[in-house]
Amino acid sequence: MGRLAVGIAVGVAVATCAVAGVVVGRRLRSRRKWRRVVGVLRELEDSCETPVGRLKQVVDAMAVEMHAGLASEGGSKLKMLLTFVDRLPTGSEIGTYYALDLGGTNFRVLRVQLGGTRSSILSKDVKRQRIPEHLMTSTSEDLFDFITSKLKQFVEQEETVSEAAQSRTRELGFTFSFPVKQISIRSGFLIRWNKGFAIEDMIGCEIVERLQGALMKKGLDMWATVLVNDTVGILALGHYYDADTVAAVKIGTGTNACYMERADAIIKCQGLLTSSGGMVVNMEWGNFWSSHLPRTTYDIDMDLESPNPNDQGFEKMISGMYLGDIVRRVILRMCEESDIFGPVSSKLLTPFVLEMPLMAAMHEDESPDLKEVAAILRETLEIQGVPLKARRLVVKVCDVVTRRAARLAAAGIVGILKKIGRDGTGGITGSRSRSDAKMRRTVVAVEGSLYTSYMMFREYLHEALNEILGEEVAQHVVLRTTEDGSCVGAALLAALHSSSSSSSSSDGLHRRQ
Ligand code: BGC
Repeated sequence: MGRLAVGIAVGVAVATCAVAGVVVGRRLRSRRKWRRVVGVLRELEDSCETPVGRLKQVVDAMAVEMHAGLASEGGSKLKMLLTFVDRLPTGSEIGTYYALDLGGTNFRVLRVQLGGTRSSILSKDVKRQRIPEHLMTSTSEDLFDFITSKLKQFVEQEETVSEAAQSRTRELGFTFSFPVKQISIRSGFLIRWNKGFAIEDMIGCEIVERLQGALMKKGLDMWATVLVNDTVGILALGHYYDADTVAAVKIGTGTNACYMERADAIIKCQGLLTSSGGMVVNMEWGNFWSSHLPRTTYDIDMDLESPNPNDQGFEKMISGMYLGDIVRRVILRMCEESDIFGPVSSKLLTPFVLEMPLMAAMHEDESPDLKEVAAILRETLEIQGVPLKARRLVVKVCDVVTRRAARLAAAGIVGILKKIGRDGTGGITGSRSRSDAKMRRTVVAVEGSLYTSYMMFREYLHEALNEILGEEVAQHVVLRTTEDGSCVGAALLAALHSSSSSSSSSDGLHRRQ
């Protein structure tokens, strides 16, 4: 009996030890896996770091590249494209004008009625529509057929336009937000596509001719008066409201900036005379590159697998089209390192499945149990039952990626200010010290969903701007959000360059003999 009891006791003890061993082993393994997942985050944090010293290097590099891009054609990855916009709206434009805005996920048609005094927009009618995905890679004929048919529907439905306005040719501004080599205010050739568009037959083609042909085919009596980039439209609207506006930035599906440059600083176009002595330059800053940019393995892989490798490097770190995909790649890596997210789902392997609004929703999920994060992981990435601590990591990943993007965008903006001598340092030569450089009020018009709808992004951008410029200088720099500037601004420029406007300046540009 005694032996039996001892035997049982020993057996129980051995079994308990074995169970404990298994439990401890499992815990150790799961701890190790957790550490690996946390390691992925730490590594990401390190490689995305943007201390102010590094941001200042990016500022300098941006200003230097701007100079190089203005000095010679192909002198920099920054194209610094001429826009032939030499004056900006003042608020006195009058009449009814239209705009067609093509350049991202959405396409817009607009009509505005301008009051003629004190920047008054009497009415504004905008119709937005998502571009059907197949049209982004189809033919130019299909694309222009689609946009002009939407314009036709829009015009046919208008009620508020006076008979007088209806009886004359309607004038429109065409916003086409891709790199375009312009030869005049209403003519330009497509250099290349980006943001998921890839219509081979259009590369190298004149854009307004295509549009005008499609308008004619549809029997529309409309005349494209100006061809502009979206940033140029934003600058035009910014200036319409506030004459201190000198630059414009778009941070949406793609990203870019433009600014008013002195004509004599555009060295690659020597002898260019403009009526104002200046010209808006479309930087195409999405293609900016510098060794100071903090690049991760995720950026490198995404770039290699993109339809435009080695292009738009800055854009791929900043804009809405790409941020979600960087986050997806990090989560995928975490999944591969540990089973804490469960097995790798096919959705998680799908490029661009995690769109920016969903990423922003995860980042800004304020519920205590991160309900929104769980729902997006489940519904969009098909990752079920992720524990709370892992959901927190996902939020952190979104934070790191967004913070880097916003801070780099801020450095880009200061780069422009530096180039035009508005950063308080006396410009690129840095000849004057902060204290004796007199700061003028400087307004930068900003648009795009990242800036307007993603609060964390906007906060990080402002924070970095203050860090780089310093409080004293930053107080003279105003970032002003405009609304629908890409199309309203195009309509304003159409008004400024209208055949019926006495102030039309399309012939005000010429080269010195
Ligand atoms: C295009 C620019 C455009 C920007 C914002 C970029 O991908 O190259 O022309 O201004 O996106 O829409």
